Amino acid sequence: MHLLHDRRGTPPGELDQAGLVELLRFGVPPSDAWLRTNFVTTVDGSVTGPDGASGSISPGSDAHHFALHRALCDAVVVAAGTARAEGYRAVDLADWQRDVRAAEGLAPLPTLVVVSASADLDPQIATPAVGEGGPVVVATTTAAPPARLEALRAAGVEVLQRGTKSVDLRAVLDDLAGRGLPRLLCEGGPALHRELLALGLVDEVLLTLAPSVVGGDGSRTTRGAGLDDPLGLALAYVLRGDDDALFTSYRTLPEKPVGRLE
Ligand SMILES: NC(=O)c1ccc[n+]([C@@H]2O[C@H](COP(=O)([O-])OP(=O)(O)OC[C@H]3O[C@@H](n4cnc5c(N)ncnc54)[C@H](OP(=O)(O)O)[C@@H]3O)[C@@H](O)[C@H]2O)c1
Repeated sequence: MHLLHDRRGTPPGELDQAGLVELLRFGVPPSDAWLRTNFVTTVDGSVTGPDGASGSISPGSDAHHFALHRALCDAVVVAAGTARAEGYRAVDLADWQRDVRAAEGLAPLPTLVVVSASADLDPQIATPAVGEGGPVVVATTTAAPPARLEALRAAGVEVLQRGTKSVDLRAVLDDLAGRGLPRLLCEGGPALHRELLALGLVDEVLLTLAPSVVGGDGSRTTRGAGLDDPLGLALAYVLRGDDDALFTSYRTLPEKPVGRLE
């Protein structure tokens, strides 16, 4: 990966794994959650390819980038729409990702948090297709159908009921930070992203620009009603992959002070 810009002053140039970890490591204010969202989009602004999934637009160099972000978070937060469309399961990691986590003092595996009002999720989400998986939490409402919650619990999922009609996202983030999971990586999707931004809960937006155009009616990185006011962002860094993908990080304004969690 080639660093094109880092507002903290890191000189442009090729970054090795240690340099990438230094750049991508979460800045976490003490006792508070830091929420980073991560999307890949084509140059014409679609977050999905012709198959309705994101893998088909994801450039080759994104695989390592995506995996490194997973290696550096305490929890992966995802909306049920994306979890269903992309077949999410408990997070398992490669040995190199576990090594990164060990060096960073993180738990061996991140927790998967799925946000869903309906709780309409396959209980097999509790385990990865192969290997060992991290814990799985379903964040839902007090109105979720009890039978679905029972099936999820029986499979080993922790059910967190916050909110009545829709999930109280602020309460969920506070709960996660309160249990020692402040480094939060939200992998979508667009409906959840819009809500989190509208509520002022996003600290950092990661946008990968795939060097491709797909046309079609694919969603943008947000879906739903317009925000009352445009949300300002400040560019933090830009990386370029060997395949011309661009990896950008924006901080939402006003910026939260950054500290390191002790
Ligand atoms: N390119 C990328 O980086 C990227 C990333 C992520 C997703 N995607 C794509 O986005 C598409 C999925 O998008 P989507 O429109 O389905 O949106 P989504 O945000 O993935 O899912 C929406 C669903 O999430 C749940 N949800 C969100 N906020 C909630 C809240 N506050 N309370 C309760 N439930 C809440 C609801 O689930 P229930 O219906 O279960 O109640 C809702 O129907 C897929 O095609 C996926 O491939 C692309």
